[in-house]
Amino acid sequence: MNQTEETHLRHLFDGEPILNVYNDEIINLSVGAPGPDLLQLCVSNMRQATEHRLLAEEREGKYYLFQYGITAGLYECRRELAKFLSRRYLDSVDGKDLILTCGATHGLQLLLCSVVSPNGVIFVEEVTYMIALNVFKQFPLMRIVTVPMKLGVVDLDAMEKIVADEKERGEYLIDEEKIFWAVFYTIPTYHNPTGMTLSPENCKRLVSIARENSLLVACDDVYNLLRYEDVEDPPQRLFYYDNPCDPEYRGGNVVSNGSFSKILSPAIRLGWMECGSRVCGVLKQSGIMKSGGAVNHYVSGVVASLLELGLEDSYLNLLIRTYKERLESLCNILDRYLPRCCSYRRPEGGYFVWISLPVGTNGEHFIRWCQEKYKVTAIPGSRFSNAGRSENHLRLSIAFHKNDVLEKAVKTLCTALLDYARNEIATTGNDTRTANED
Ligand SMILES: Cc1ncc(COP(=O)(O)O)c(C=O)c1O
Repeated sequence: MNQTEETHLRHLFDGEPILNVYNDEIINLSVGAPGPDLLQLCVSNMRQATEHRLLAEEREGKYYLFQYGITAGLYECRRELAKFLSRRYLDSVDGKDLILTCGATHGLQLLLCSVVSPNGVIFVEEVTYMIALNVFKQFPLMRIVTVPMKLGVVDLDAMEKIVADEKERGEYLIDEEKIFWAVFYTIPTYHNPTGMTLSPENCKRLVSIARENSLLVACDDVYNLLRYEDVEDPPQRLFYYDNPCDPEYRGGNVVSNGSFSKILSPAIRLGWMECGSRVCGVLKQSGIMKSGGAVNHYVSGVVASLLELGLEDSYLNLLIRTYKERLESLCNILDRYLPRCCSYRRPEGGYFVWISLPVGTNGEHFIRWCQEKYKVTAIPGSRFSNAGRSENHLRLSIAFHKNDVLEKAVKTLCTALLDYARNEIATTGNDTRTANED
């Protein structure tokens, strides 16, 4: 039998030196995760929260935190989370609408295998979170259908037609659990990778498209709380627009899939889904959820204390201050140095900036060349496209590096883009027209 040796990897980005975000020899702007300067604060926060929770367990003397939990997730955690989200969203969130998960990825997988037809359709935006595309490929009986985008968000005119066509086309298996023939996976707020947010008008329209077509909208809401603009009416999650008081309400067509990964630590593996009663009902009966009690029950107890003690609020405030500064620095560099043949739109929150290169430029080719010559890397657009399009784009992340490293890297990237546009495009035969506006 062949024995393969296991390499001692330390984190998800370990392995290839060129993609290792901890490797100082090349600056990696790909990674959507916090760096050590931010994560170090988790030590004292988690210590305090753990101490608080364990003392409470000892006081009560039943040690339920070490027992199988309840299916929807620890009551105290959902109660504290509901209070926290209500404060942060400026909209009331009810603990009974929350189901705890092991993060947004787990939430998405759970939705796909619990409430969507096994031979159904998954609608995705032209560019989307690249690993969600990998998740979808694990459901080979479902068809993945791409919906075009306009100005960095879903094009609802196109979507309406595509959904109607697909609905006509198939015979989808529906029963009392698989209640939706199709799901639209979207990131309406501070999109990954475009950074853009769906307007309130479009949110309303998307909800009515979903209701009229019995579609589930699975909103990946992991960036919603990372808002850097002080505005009177901040963007609301799409869930807000699926209001049970509306006469057209159909029991809930939207799920808000949230996570502590971007607002606390990715390793915590705790998230939540805010769902209407139909979806909640199915999930609470899910064998996978029931068999394990709650998912991540112990951690939910610690996080309940973290929320109760106000530690999560102060940590999130710090993250917002830090990321706001980073985004500003990065955009200021782009405003000054990005070659005129490229363009971008300044996001108001989240982790990512999406750069358009001249139409016809192969972003993958550019990135390989840039890694070699300039020791900077980012993710080329085609990685985010189910159809392998959008190749003339790059995604930059503000999450990992401190300001000084980020500024240096983005300036270098701009120099590289100019060098490439002047010297490489002609020799590779790429088009050099000005950047498109998609
Ligand atoms: C849009 C989006 N969804 C989900 C995730 C992963 O979330 P989680 O760690 O909660 O599974 C990421 C991480 O980069 C993301 O960008």
